[in-house]
Amino acid sequence: MRELIELPVWKTLVTHQQEIADQHMRDWFAEDPQRFSRYSLQVDEILFDYSRNRITDKTMTLLHELALTAELRKKITALFAGEPVNKTEKRAALHTALRDKRQTRIDVNGTNIATLIAAAREKMQRMVGAVHSYQWRGVTGKPITHLVSMGVGGSYLGPMMCTHALKAFAVSTLPCYFISGIDDGYMMEVLAKINPETTLFIIASKSFTTLETMANARTMGTWLTDKLGADVLAKQFIAVTAALDRAREFGIPDEHILPLWDWVGGRYSIWSSMGLPLALCIGNQRFTEFLDGAYAMDQHFLQAPFTANIPVLLALLSIWYVNFFDSHAQAIVPYTKQLRYLTPYLQQTEMESNGKSVDLNGDSINYLTGSVVFGEEGTNGQHAYHQLLHQSQRLIPVDFILVGKHAQPSLDASQDILVASGLSQAAALMCGKTYTAVQAELLAAHFSLSEANYLAPHKVIPGNKPSNILFLDQLTPKNLGALLALYEHKVFAQGAIWNINSFDQWGVELGKQLLPDILALLQGVPFSQSLDAATMGLIAHFKKIKAR
Ligand code: F6P
Repeated sequence: MRELIELPVWKTLVTHQQEIADQHMRDWFAEDPQRFSRYSLQVDEILFDYSRNRITDKTMTLLHELALTAELRKKITALFAGEPVNKTEKRAALHTALRDKRQTRIDVNGTNIATLIAAAREKMQRMVGAVHSYQWRGVTGKPITHLVSMGVGGSYLGPMMCTHALKAFAVSTLPCYFISGIDDGYMMEVLAKINPETTLFIIASKSFTTLETMANARTMGTWLTDKLGADVLAKQFIAVTAALDRAREFGIPDEHILPLWDWVGGRYSIWSSMGLPLALCIGNQRFTEFLDGAYAMDQHFLQAPFTANIPVLLALLSIWYVNFFDSHAQAIVPYTKQLRYLTPYLQQTEMESNGKSVDLNGDSINYLTGSVVFGEEGTNGQHAYHQLLHQSQRLIPVDFILVGKHAQPSLDASQDILVASGLSQAAALMCGKTYTAVQAELLAAHFSLSEANYLAPHKVIPGNKPSNILFLDQLTPKNLGALLALYEHKVFAQGAIWNINSFDQWGVELGKQLLPDILALLQGVPFSQSLDAATMGLIAHFKKIKAR
């Protein structure tokens, strides 16, 4: 493929952006009463409304042409077929196989992974069954009453977000605590809440080397063996990992190790044994529904024409703003407390995947990729950062995630307020408020003409700010599965068009490499290599504080 920005369709999109840059969505809606129905579609229990975007039919035609030119269809097929799309690590990215209910045969290194997945799922289901039926006993013979999961990044965000989101579907009352990052204070808090004899500890780490997770696991292991003897590791610890030997070395027996494979990326691993905390919370049946929701979205992504394909449309719209409007950020705003941790989860999906500056061949690229993903549960965000969305000169597209029905019908009344809030924000972002309207409002409120003239510019809301609505009938395991798969595919489609590798994360490695050296220096170990002056200055500052 020719370099992206040299493609004729790219150049046409640049010109087209200039043609429509001064047009207002307000006028487009006024001229076309069908705009909502033309630019919205329903897939199963998710309605996708993209009518409030800076797009015309011509925009969409050109964006689709861009997708075709980038051979997106071929790349999607390659992803699902298990081709080594993660080129730098020579790996497939087969999270879709984890939820493939047809168990399609895919051979990786001579093994049909469908059988590996089925065996791991069965093992996880047996574990969940043993805990729920009180057959799983701790080292002193008592049944399990608490769960603690230790992990970070993809080994934490997904399980933590999903167990919170689907609490209403919990079949078990076992409280699950997540320990992520290094903070002894937090660990102490958790330890104060659990009974060590009846707690099951999950070490969730694909690599089983991540510093934070392993430090926490060791602290926890020592604390427990001191209290309950060495057998506790074999009885009350589960490892979810691709590094089976490291887990064994830690003291965890094979029957308590749930496998993972290098063809499952950390941030795409919730569908694997990494989903154990979720399965322990909502049970095996609901966990299967969660996978089925993702599977249905996979089929949509695979089969729907690009013009009616939600992940593809989301990706194209995002590319439209990032590359043609120079937009640097993307807000994802769920209007339900249950999804309060969704944005950090999707932050990893998008930013760890697409924050790249070379293409698949390793050549520098001269266009932006990725976005700064941020956001907060809607009604909180409205009173914090939405001001900048409405009145700054920046263009920050927003995805609003709305839910029609609460899982507990008695709470449906607050659902009305939540949905009304989200719809108000989307309408305000699009319509804005003109100078004339503001001035008339001020005069009607008996402001003098000079006061009204002074205040009016401050109260003008330009509008024309784009947003999408993803409207879920209800937040069920199935719909959450579909929503997460939808975003995974959006990120993949973006990466495919940008011609980058969305499945590696080398940028994260440098910090990991530097950390042991800096830690050694902080702890007074002499170190020959010289670090930059700022780091050395701050190390000295930290040591001074410690010495006081
Ligand atoms: O932050 C980098 C990263 O490698 C993520 O991609 C991953 O989800 C996280 O660390 C945790 O890794 P592991 O599961 O190997 O502990």
